[in-house]
Amino acid sequence: MVDERVEVLFPGAEVDARVGELAREIKDRVPADVTVVGLLKGSFMFMADLIRAMDDEGMTPKVEFLQVSSYGLETTSSGRVKVIGDLPGSVGGRPVLLVDDIQDTGRTLKFTRDLLVENGADPVWTCALLDKPERRAVEIEADFVGFVIPDVFVVGYGIDYAENFRHLPFIGRLAPEGEV
Ligand code: IMP
Ligand code: MG
Repeated sequence: MVDERVEVLFPGAEVDARVGELAREIKDRVPADVTVVGLLKGSFMFMADLIRAMDDEGMTPKVEFLQVSSYGLETTSSGRVKVIGDLPGSVGGRPVLLVDDIQDTGRTLKFTRDLLVENGADPVWTCALLDKPERRAVEIEADFVGFVIPDVFVVGYGIDYAENFRHLPFIGRLAPEGEV
């Protein structure tokens, strides 16, 4: 579905190609049976593609998900992160690859990485499909990044604005209110 407020930044084919490359980068540095922990909901589409790309590379990942609080209806971060539901119980003593859709202020990845470490995951790598380095507010750099982008609001490929646009098969920029 085409929406005039959404401008394509990365077409689906470009995302696919980059996810394939990411899986190759991951394979070179991470054990084949790593537990991949995806942050809901934003990473669900990326996770599905990344896991299959890791399989293509001969890896045998385990898959877990974790939900943390998100923006809600706002387009700026609340600065708070909290876990909704239970931590995956199976990370103790395991190599973990933590996966999120976007590294923005960095609070979500840092908070969640520290939480996994506190719960015995060892070692922990981090992966973000998109990275907005201009926005960083805490000290963290994901080990694996799909695309570096400027400070624009993006949607699609699992990423939402107020729970809309997650279904889009590409990554787009959402025009600010009044621009379109
Ligand atoms: P951080 O904790 O500030 O790094 O924020 C990361 C989270 O904010 C991501 O998991 C996204 O859910 C959300 N987020 C950051 N930028 C965007 C955006 O451009 N569109 C939609 N969600 C975003
Ligand atoms: Mg999120």
